[in-house]
Amino acid sequence: MSFKCINVSPIHLDDVALIHAASYPSDHISGSMGRDLIVKYYSEFLTDENAFYVCVENGLTTDIKGFVVFGKGLPGKVSKFKRENRLDIIKFFLSRPSVSFRFILKRLSAIIQNSDRFDEAEHLILSIAVSNDSVGVGSFLMNAVDNYCTGNGVDKLGLYVACSNVRALNFYYKTGFKVQAFISGQYYMEKTFEVAR
Ligand SMILES: CC(C)(COP(=O)(O)OP(=O)(O)OC[C@H]1O[C@@H](n2cnc3c(N)ncnc32)[C@H](O)[C@@H]1OP(=O)(O)O)[C@@H](O)C(=O)NCCC(=O)NCCS
Repeated sequence: MSFKCINVSPIHLDDVALIHAASYPSDHISGSMGRDLIVKYYSEFLTDENAFYVCVENGLTTDIKGFVVFGKGLPGKVSKFKRENRLDIIKFFLSRPSVSFRFILKRLSAIIQNSDRFDEAEHLILSIAVSNDSVGVGSFLMNAVDNYCTGNGVDKLGLYVACSNVRALNFYYKTGFKVQAFISGQYYMEKTFEVAR
């Protein structure tokens, strides 16, 4: 099967939300949000400041196999989303006591664990996920991310991954990321690129 990456438009967001909901661990805050809220979340990233690709089979523009969101200014957009949707998020958590309980436990254990100090890269990967029936799509997406970085003078790309997410950790090691720090139950990983001067 051959793939291509295309820029996301609003019509893709429903499929992006489906893949997100199916693939992100349920102890990840966004992995347990409802579909409407996930669509709202991802619509924050349809801006020029960041890149947002979906991977589809060559010749198709639907049947999305995976997606990736990365670039500049992501933490600010996540905070804005949380601020503007605080009520919906609280309502969602109240309707899922077991998810809330797991989330609180995770936050508490993060508070009592020591965290490293580090400088976060300006460019970050926010999300990368593939549909269940896909093989090699993650690597294909990461290759598109690499091409973007080398083509746009990005020298450093960072990301956060839960220490328990073994599949993603393997994937990031395989695609050239290295652990730089441990913070709140997550590893902060980075990859560097040669920038032509
Ligand atoms: C992380 C993710 C995007 C990787 O995509 P993928 O399509 O599975 O990756 P690939 O098929 O290209 O595999 C690349 C490497 O990832 C690792 N990997 C993939 N699936 C794995 C699994 N089930 N268990 C362990 N390692 C795995 C392997 O090192 C693999 O290399 P190999 O095939 O030579 O062994 C995908 O697993 C995913 O959607 N995970 C759920 C969402 C998520 O956790 N995203 C990251 C949040 S920080």
